[in-house]
Amino acid sequence: DRIDWKPDAVEMGGHAHYMLKEIREQPDTVLNACRGRLVREEGSSRLGGLNMTARQLRRVRRVVFAACGTSWHAALVGEYLIERLAHLPVEVEYASEFRYRNAPLDDRTLVFVLSQSGETADTLGALREAKRRGQPTLAIVNTVGSTIAREADGGVYLHAGLEVGVASTKAFSAQVAVLTLLALHLGRLRGLSFSEGTAVLKALEAVPSLIGEALKAEPAIEAAAERVAQARSVLYLGRDIHFPVALEGALKLKEISYIHAEGYPTAEMKHGPIALIDVHTPSVFVAPRGPLHAKTLSNIEEVRARRGPVVSVGLADDDELTRLSDHVLPIPDAPDVVQPLLAVVPLQLLAYHVARIKGCDIDKPRNLAKSVTVE
Ligand code: G6P
Repeated sequence: DRIDWKPDAVEMGGHAHYMLKEIREQPDTVLNACRGRLVREEGSSRLGGLNMTARQLRRVRRVVFAACGTSWHAALVGEYLIERLAHLPVEVEYASEFRYRNAPLDDRTLVFVLSQSGETADTLGALREAKRRGQPTLAIVNTVGSTIAREADGGVYLHAGLEVGVASTKAFSAQVAVLTLLALHLGRLRGLSFSEGTAVLKALEAVPSLIGEALKAEPAIEAAAERVAQARSVLYLGRDIHFPVALEGALKLKEISYIHAEGYPTAEMKHGPIALIDVHTPSVFVAPRGPLHAKTLSNIEEVRARRGPVVSVGLADDDELTRLSDHVLPIPDAPDVVQPLLAVVPLQLLAYHVARIKGCDIDKPRNLAKSVTVE
């Protein structure tokens, strides 16, 4: 008897694409990124691979992140997190720019590169440039033993497992989880109290099951995808820590569905992108509740006044948001430091379903490579 052996189908565990499998894996991804790194008795985290003492870390006055693509978006979330928890200035650089600039660095600046593959040429170039200038360099990397992992002086592994889909999903979540641990650690060496640190740990521990809940919204997301699939251009808008999530949502849509998408800070919409809004141009708002929610709702009104379709990522019981939106992609409530880990999930699924509806090659989008090892 001939056995019909389809290794891909086995590896994909019944999911239609690697990307879908990897999106659905994210509760475990966050769990694995945090495993062994939560120090409850100190309300802090442990990142042994940094190879730096508490004294050295306390001397740090500034953090620079260099990365490309989705890793760059994760780094932007890291900027908000470190600013909030450790009150340290952070700069997020495109690796391709950083490597050729004369960016000011001193011995109180901590340079991190972030890379899923650990092989991206521009990111490796940024690491080497920082090293050449005598900077201790750290890496946040998924692939064990990759070039960046080997060349960095220290760092943190994501433990996300192999990511096959060219459009990165679970690596983003692992990076954001690790950056939350880093921000917590740096914070606890500074002004962040034990109880504030403990609150962050608790919030992180709840994330895997909350992502599980967010994943259940797939039917609502598919309905929104039918509408987005008709568009030629889509705006993604988010404020504060959700601005990078909006950028990442837009990148996912571009990468796999070939629909033009732009991410913007919500309030910046009025300074240009609002000119694009019409009945054919949907806006996707990342709008969980938070201190600026009322302002976001009035931005949504602005879009509606121009007859723009509105898709919102928000809380299921947010009646005002539901009233103003054509589609709500629901996520559960959580403290705001962990909300990006929840809000990104419906945006990944939205891009996935739009690409599926359009019949695109989801795991291998045109013109893109999983790891870009040339400049
Ligand atoms: C490529 C991939 C992106 C990825 C970027 C950075 O462009 O298509 O999905 O985000 O490289 O990759 P890295 O492995 O360095 O995170």
